[in-house]
Amino acid sequence: MTATARQPQPGVPRAHEAAGLSMEFDLAGEPAAARRALAGLAPGGSVVGLGAPLVAAMGGHVAGLESFAAIGTGPVFPGTQRACWTFVSAADPSAAFDEARRLAGALAPALSMVESTILFRYRNDRELLGYRDGLANPPAGPEALAAAIVAEGPVAGGSFAVTQRYLYAPGAFHRLPPAGRDAVIGRDNATDEELDDAPDTAHVKRTEQEHFAPGGTMLRHSMPWGDARRHGLQFIGFSAQPNLARRMLERMAGLEDGIVDALLDHVVAETGGYYFCPPLLDGKLDLSGLGLPPA
Ligand code: HEM
Repeated sequence: MTATARQPQPGVPRAHEAAGLSMEFDLAGEPAAARRALAGLAPGGSVVGLGAPLVAAMGGHVAGLESFAAIGTGPVFPGTQRACWTFVSAADPSAAFDEARRLAGALAPALSMVESTILFRYRNDRELLGYRDGLANPPAGPEALAAAIVAEGPVAGGSFAVTQRYLYAPGAFHRLPPAGRDAVIGRDNATDEELDDAPDTAHVKRTEQEHFAPGGTMLRHSMPWGDARRHGLQFIGFSAQPNLARRMLERMAGLEDGIVDALLDHVVAETGGYYFCPPLLDGKLDLSGLGLPPA
């Protein structure tokens, strides 16, 4: 089989569906057992990502893949890097649950689950402050693939993912007048249009993809989580560039120019990890680009 048969994981470019789960795993057994479990795994429509600690434990290396180190003071963004992350998205909660059980079963006992967050689609792809999320995503097809999938080199067909679970503290946000809320995001909630006069603190000004060019486009598939008491957003982004997410987070935290993202007055990151999503060969995870020693 040649390298040309490698395919990106279909779950990376695929638009998320109505129900989902984000699961994180720690290494619980021998790295060789984790390697065997991963190499035999067919992710189907789900996404499977490997953290730098797991790649290193298996004796491999992915150029540019970092462990998530805390960003900012406080810190603004905590690092809770895990060995492995999976993202399930399915048409309904039953299908998502069954798929999550399948993946967790295939990874056990070498990888044990330490985080599991039920995700859902809210209204017309709005996050729970009420704003449409994903509007500036590259269109599905070649542009989305170019943004999210590594084009060449040993890990071609793979993708670099970032995921963070944000808890919302939306009381103050909802007390703002509509124009004040729009200024936090930088988009008009009623029309979805970007504000011409968005302040420098607006979220879309902090993350504007032109600023990170070339290769500054991220494919985001974030989904809401939680209930009426505790809720927020599982931020999920894919990029062909290993460090794009960190650069965006540093700019949100004000490390670049001292200007902090206004969104951070209303949301708190509880977790944060970076993961490499290997390509598939014959439908199974292809670990050949990780430079692993002979099995
Ligand atoms: C709770 C956390 C977050 C919320 C509620 C949120 C929400 C939003 C919303 C409503 C938009 C405008 C519509 C759109 O283009 O999608 C947006 C844009 C964007 N966000 Fe976030 N976001 C969050 C975290 C992040 C993080 C952590 C990153 C990067 C690591 C990020 C990257 C982006 C990018 C790249 C854009 C498009 C900017 C552009 O117009 O070029 N977001 N976000």
